Amino acid sequence: MKRSFIREILEHTDAHTISFAGGLPDVGLFPRQALQVAAQKALCTPEALQYSTSTGYAPLKALIAQQYCDKGFATTADEILITSGSQQGLDIIARYHRGTGMTLESPSYLGALNIFTLNNISTYSVALGEDGIDLEAFKKSINHTALTYLIPDFQNPSGTCYTASHRRDLATVLQDSDTLLIEDAPYSEVYFDQPYPSISQLLPRQSYHLGSFSKVLAPALRIGWIRADSSLLQPLIAYKEAMDLHTSSITQRIVYEYLLDTEGYQTHLATLRTHYQEKMNHFADLLNKYLPNFHYARPKGGMFIYGKLEGIDTMKLVRECIEHGVVFVPGCEFDGAFDEIRFNYTHSTFEEIKRGLKRIALVLSLR
Ligand SMILES: Cc1ncc(COP(=O)(O)O)c(C=O)c1O
Repeated sequence: MKRSFIREILEHTDAHTISFAGGLPDVGLFPRQALQVAAQKALCTPEALQYSTSTGYAPLKALIAQQYCDKGFATTADEILITSGSQQGLDIIARYHRGTGMTLESPSYLGALNIFTLNNISTYSVALGEDGIDLEAFKKSINHTALTYLIPDFQNPSGTCYTASHRRDLATVLQDSDTLLIEDAPYSEVYFDQPYPSISQLLPRQSYHLGSFSKVLAPALRIGWIRADSSLLQPLIAYKEAMDLHTSSITQRIVYEYLLDTEGYQTHLATLRTHYQEKMNHFADLLNKYLPNFHYARPKGGMFIYGKLEGIDTMKLVRECIEHGVVFVPGCEFDGAFDEIRFNYTHSTFEEIKRGLKRIALVLSLR
């Protein structure tokens, strides 16, 4: 199993390196004051620092279940398992289903691919088109796999967002199969124009829907969850217990206290969406100016711009770029093509984005 390129590369960069590599949120958008107030409230009770129940803090599970209901996806607190980030959610599901076959998108999220390898899951990649995974190839593949792993909202790494009709078509196909869907949705709230209904909503008894507060509040909280029918969720609890007994009591309560101010949370989400859309457009405008041969589509949400520098070996390019103080992730790291690149546009400042892209243009001009 290979290590994460992003984590490895970060060890070879210094404070002056401009990184378009990791999927990091903008630090300026962490709602620090509101979280400070929430933390103070959470700490008023000693239970916040005590061991707690394996499936999660009941009031937080109830709030998350309510968020699903508000979107028309009927959910009870019993159908929520709080996890230490959605990364752990993936790990729990993969351990439970170890050794099976899985259909997934190409390219796909590296952190998930590593989990699947560790759990002897045989993966079958199906190409992603503009509207989502290729439907005909998908139909053939799921005949051989017990699981399907999809990231339909502003996918990592490609930025692709499945259209509403493609979601419906996939749900119909899945309904007629014995395949369970794992829908990984950490970016679902990071939309620019409109939210999209989950596929799981159409398959409530045949899906695991994974959520996270990492991209909208702060990744350091490590609060994610799995939403699934009780019959699917129950067998996972023993795995969760074996891994860490339960997710941090204190951070669960901080998130709960924070979410009680519904209006404050909605205002925060609106600010985040506007700010990220501005950054994405800034990044895209400068890509057009400095890297005119980079072909891509502007994403409708999420954190990444993915595209092609026709004919350029981007692994070689990134090694040269490191010397000039700028990094990105070559597409081959996600099983993408040798000439593809994933850029993260949320982490760097507006000014760093300009400097970073100019540096890449300079490296290309020196070749
Ligand atoms: C598609 C996807 N799934 C899961 C994760 C893990 O997120 P977390 O564990 O912080 O919730 C990430 C993080 O980048 C991701 O991009």
